[in-house]
Amino acid sequence: MPGTTKDIPSKLEALREQIRHHEYRYFVLDSPEISDFDFDKLVEQLKKLETEHPEFITPDSPTQRVGGKPREGVVKTAHSSPMLSLDNTYNEEELRGWERRVHELSGRKEVDYVCELKLDGMSLALIYEDGRLVRGLTRGDGTIGEDVTLNIRTVRTIPLSIPKEKLKKAGIPADFEVRGELLMPLAAFKKMNEEREAKGLSLFANPRNATAGTVRQLDASITARRRLDFFPYMMLRNGRTYFDRHSRTLDALSDAGFKVNQSRKLAKNMEEVWVFIQQWEGKRESLPYEIDGIVVKVDRTSLQNELGFTGKAPRWAIAYKYAARAGVTQIEGIRVQVGRTGKLTPVAELAPVAIGGTTVRNATLHNMDEIERLGVKIGDWVQVERGGDVIPKVAKVIEDQAHPRGTKIFHMPETCPICETKIVKTNRSCILPPATL
Ligand code: IVH
Repeated sequence: MPGTTKDIPSKLEALREQIRHHEYRYFVLDSPEISDFDFDKLVEQLKKLETEHPEFITPDSPTQRVGGKPREGVVKTAHSSPMLSLDNTYNEEELRGWERRVHELSGRKEVDYVCELKLDGMSLALIYEDGRLVRGLTRGDGTIGEDVTLNIRTVRTIPLSIPKEKLKKAGIPADFEVRGELLMPLAAFKKMNEEREAKGLSLFANPRNATAGTVRQLDASITARRRLDFFPYMMLRNGRTYFDRHSRTLDALSDAGFKVNQSRKLAKNMEEVWVFIQQWEGKRESLPYEIDGIVVKVDRTSLQNELGFTGKAPRWAIAYKYAARAGVTQIEGIRVQVGRTGKLTPVAELAPVAIGGTTVRNATLHNMDEIERLGVKIGDWVQVERGGDVIPKVAKVIEDQAHPRGTKIFHMPETCPICETKIVKTNRSCILPPATL
């Protein structure tokens, strides 16, 4: 009965399914089938029909990503099982040490591993009931997380609901939990900081801090404007790993419509793991988001359970951390930068040096305490590091014969270099008195 009120709910649902499909093509697969214009037309159509029939609006409609009352404060909720952290290794020897322990504790020599990128964001738990997203929790202290449901509903790669048939096909039960990494892609991070700078707001130091700041916004419409992305890496039921292999978990989550990171590998042994680690060290600059290493996990769940945990980290997984990208150069001068809030930051002016694909000319020295801690003088040779942070930092002074020490000691100016107002020193930084701003 087309056109009658009776078939409005099915008309609405068909439109929603069409939109969900195109969202999936665009945001998860990065392979749209229709133009943005045609997509917007579909959304407009849905909005119009929902405005005419508000009684049929469902919380999992694509129009309802931003909705509900703004959060009034922090609500804490217990995790189904502790959200653990990872132990780190920094070189091949340490990684081999971890492999040896896996062999010893399990009594096996043949172990399959899954290699994944170590994404530099924040971990997030998503709880689905009857195929619908009901809760999103931050890691918190690992036992109790912060409820950020309204915020994470705005993340387009987080499905608000998954059809029963799709879950069934993927082998996932209707009630389940997904854990993964929420992050801000570099392009979104850059854009957000540019906008903040134009408005005179303080800048986020790196995408990780920006993600945490964004997801804790009380007003979810702000989260919606800053594009976050979610990559799952775990699936639980009643707090326990569901599938018999980790590789199977990742494939099933992908089948269910989640954006599982494509850059992963099922490795037959540590040699294959090591190849993966080395390949990605060189390629990480090409990624649209930050990674700080590789996570290696024992594939078999039964073996994971045998290995168990130590304190806060599993024995069945390990992080291999890449070294911070660094270079050595000379400090030609130190200038003082005046922030919008009146804070003065000493910045080292460097002889240009190439670090990880970009030419670095400036590095932050943070404040006078940091200059004293490093013992930096103008003319010194220094190690400069580019971590996840936007602004590179001076890590240490190089003291050897090939790199003679500088002699010129730096002092904070007594007055502002721009307006000449007298500077006030708080316990950590130098600032301009508020009245002058
Ligand atoms: S697995 C019990 N896999 O790294 C194992 N963690 O330093 C739990 N992270 O808190 C973590 N990428 O936020 C896992 N592919 C990945 C990851 C990953 C990033 C984060 C995660 C964790 C932190 C530990």
